[in-house]
Amino acid sequence: MRFYFPTAMLALASVVHAQCGEGSDATVTGEGTFVATVGSEEVYAGDDYLVAIQTALDAITEGQRLSVIASGSIGDRSITITSGKIFEGCGTIDVGNNAGHGAIEVLDASDVSIPFLTMTGAPYFGMRFFGVSNLSLGQITMNLSGGLGIRFERDEAPNFNVAMDTITVTGAGSHAVETWNIDGLTIGSVFAQDVGECGLLLQTTTNAQVGLVDGNNVAAGNGYATLRFANTNGRLADGSYATNVYVDKVVSRGGGRGVFCVSESGGAEIGNVDLADNGNNSILIENCYGVSIQGGTVNGGGEVRLSARDEFANNRDISISLQVDGTSVTENPCGENISWDLTGSGTFNIC
Ligand SMILES: *[C@@H]1O[C@H](CO)[C@@H](O)[C@H](O)[C@H]1NC(C)=O
Ligand SMILES: *[C@@H]1O[C@H](CO)[C@@H](O)[C@H](O)[C@H]1NC(C)=O
Ligand SMILES: *[C@@H]1O[C@H](CO)[C@@H](O)[C@H](O)[C@H]1NC(C)=O
Ligand SMILES: *[C@@H]1O[C@H](CO)[C@@H](O)[C@H](O)[C@H]1NC(C)=O
Repeated sequence: MRFYFPTAMLALASVVHAQCGEGSDATVTGEGTFVATVGSEEVYAGDDYLVAIQTALDAITEGQRLSVIASGSIGDRSITITSGKIFEGCGTIDVGNNAGHGAIEVLDASDVSIPFLTMTGAPYFGMRFFGVSNLSLGQITMNLSGGLGIRFERDEAPNFNVAMDTITVTGAGSHAVETWNIDGLTIGSVFAQDVGECGLLLQTTTNAQVGLVDGNNVAAGNGYATLRFANTNGRLADGSYATNVYVDKVVSRGGGRGVFCVSESGGAEIGNVDLADNGNNSILIENCYGVSIQGGTVNGGGEVRLSARDEFANNRDISISLQVDGTSVTENPCGENISWDLTGSGTFNIC
């Protein structure tokens, strides 16, 4: 179950070993004026960075790689990548806000790969996806001053077989990474720093394997979290919550919540947590089914809480092993089939 996406894993392995710009079939180069070259043909020369990039992308064919060597700004517009193309940003791509859109979009497309990307600016969405399959994201760095980093849409076609290697987002006003409707997701690491809402937010996403989620000052002053499962995340097609979402490790410092499971989510196993000084609940599990936290520490910060809202069934089948110091653990109301293995000097009010 855990490693059942050989394609994604192979695709990822082949991208992480390359250098940005290596083996490209097309390039965008220049500074201020940009030249787009495909093979030996110059397809654009001029001062519009977006047009240079899009002209080159439209000129390459499936399986070909465009390396954007130049840095520049695309303004409040979007780059669109179609099936089978490999896009990499070796320079820094500065972006603006194209309302409702991603600065980079992959929509209803398969086998797109973005091995490298460095983005700055305050986009509506840095990257926006729906209806994608066999998508591979490699080393993605978003140094933002607002907006949302990576978004898979809610009300659009679902996604299959998505791989991300290392995603680093600073300064997003909303979430660093927000998914909806993915079946088959592998993520190496998500690093989120000074991000307004979630580090990694998984929704209606199944068969997921995540290495590390590391949040520093994420969701300060609100109820979002470094790692959040919501909106039936992990509920399988047959309605069951057999474990299918695996997260190796969650680290969270400061900000709002550390780990938050809500609204009929579950089917999840978190190997280890390292949470300290969270400004809201270190862990909140609310109306979730089949969640285990297998070990780790909570040091100070807001209380670890199992709670329930009336609109959904109470928590059930939750298992938590944890060392808790400098804060409390509260289970209220009592859930069904809840198993606790707590150590540390915290105050425990459990059923
Ligand atoms: C995804 O990759 C697998 C393996 O290469 C292939 O069989 C499948 O057709 C691909 N899916 C799409 C929609 O391209
Ligand atoms: C990213 O932001 C940091 C400070 O937050 C800055 O030092 C660094 O140069 C930025 N990188 C890019 C590519 O903008
Ligand atoms: C914690 O989250 C709740 C729910 O969103 C919010 O109402 C509350 O203000 C947050 N508390 C703090 C201290 O940020
Ligand atoms: C109780 O929850 C555990 C997971 O914590 C699960 O493995 C077990 O099957 C559940 N027991 C029942 C009777 O549902």
